[in-house]
Amino acid sequence: MELDETLGQVWTPDDIANEMVREAFVLSPNAKKILDPACGPATFSKAINQLNFKEIELICYDVDPRMYNFTSHVNQKLELRGETRNQDYLLDSSLESNFDLVIMNPPYIRHERIQREIKENYHQYLSTKLGASIDKKSNLFALFLLKGILDLAPNGILCAIVFDAVQNSAYGKKTLSILNKYAELISTKTVIAPFKNVLIDAQILLYRKREKQISSVIEHNVSKSNLFIPLEELLKSRRGTALPKRAPFLANIGDKYYSYSSPFFIKQSRLDGLVIKPDQRIYLNNSESERVADYQEWMKERLEKYNISENKKNVNPIKGGIAFNYYIRNAPRHLWNKDNIALSDNFYVSDPKNDFPAEVAWLLLNSDQYLNRFIASARNQGNGLLKLQLYEYKNVLLPNWNLLSPVEIAELSHLSKSLIQSGAQPKKVQEIATNVVKKLMDLQ
Ligand SMILES: C[S@@+](CC[C@H](N)C(=O)[O-])C[C@H]1O[C@@H](n2cnc3c(N)ncnc32)[C@H](O)[C@@H]1O
Repeated sequence: MELDETLGQVWTPDDIANEMVREAFVLSPNAKKILDPACGPATFSKAINQLNFKEIELICYDVDPRMYNFTSHVNQKLELRGETRNQDYLLDSSLESNFDLVIMNPPYIRHERIQREIKENYHQYLSTKLGASIDKKSNLFALFLLKGILDLAPNGILCAIVFDAVQNSAYGKKTLSILNKYAELISTKTVIAPFKNVLIDAQILLYRKREKQISSVIEHNVSKSNLFIPLEELLKSRRGTALPKRAPFLANIGDKYYSYSSPFFIKQSRLDGLVIKPDQRIYLNNSESERVADYQEWMKERLEKYNISENKKNVNPIKGGIAFNYYIRNAPRHLWNKDNIALSDNFYVSDPKNDFPAEVAWLLLNSDQYLNRFIASARNQGNGLLKLQLYEYKNVLLPNWNLLSPVEIAELSHLSKSLIQSGAQPKKVQEIATNVVKKLMDLQ
């Protein structure tokens, strides 16, 4: 179908649409009422259908009669319940607080190209409802984001792919600050030039609507001190200890130089709650063994058997307080490295920045509010397996723990230490952490 540029038509590639829908349903697994306010050629209908969710109701809008016909037809064929409407979404005022999930690729239309009277109507409705003045220079997609949040039920999820003007323009920044009042930003991800023949990068935004709008006082603080910041501003993270090959480095009790081996942690099987216990021993470089010529010779021979050159024998042990397995099967979790042993490269290994207590970081990272953000940024590997690359891990936007008061931090330190000491079960830690974040950071 020919694209009508005056209607801001660009289509989301199927793989990105699938990913967006999957991430949205991870955050809202029981979503029933779903809205696609700018449906185009049924792109998100097809993606939603792939997930095989029953009992959903999908409401679609498009002003282009061709898209309306096409999507009505596809939705019927896919047996998706709901309705497709050939209407201007922004002028339908009957939808407020109605949906569990709003998924969109809104039309990108510059403000000069929107008919004046219609634009006045859009602005009047939105500014009244949101109690905020909306930049008159806003691109149409910004108005879609604002109305999308308005039409969500409390705790509903908005998943939108938008041009990255949202972060680089004055009207975009103002839009994000109004959104922040009504919804909590869960993640943002940059996608490089996703649209065919359009050389513009996009952002995938995931928001959860707040139960109550936050007051302007908090909003002011938030913009000044950043309620959410990328993980890399909170933690120093790196991949764990890399071995050229595992076998020659692993120590067995009968080995001649077993006493030179050090504790190591490879897999998640040996845990005390969320606390790491060594599951292997390994030959690492240390000042003691370096001085023993016989040991060095013995190690050289072991490596030769595996065709590993001698200069690779100096394995640099990576240690740190917090470990994260970047393959996520059931639930992601952050492990506590109690004895500060070397960790394998199955993990990202982290320590907090700015002298923030590591045990408190560990506790907060195990709350739903933090963990959901990791899940939302991870990629699907098939069969229920997710993976987070190191750069993705570092870019996850997290609630900023530097905003906690010294008293709160001291109390949390006490709590975390007792959970660590008692080897509390992951579920318990997660529950306690989630309540703490809810109470202290006012986040659901
Ligand atoms: C960027 S396209 C996205 C289409 C599809 N959701 C996708 O991602 O592939 C936006 C769609 O919104 C439609 N549109 C433009 N203005 C609209 C309005 N005021 N109300 C509803 N739909 C509109 C356009 O016709 C277009 O099909």
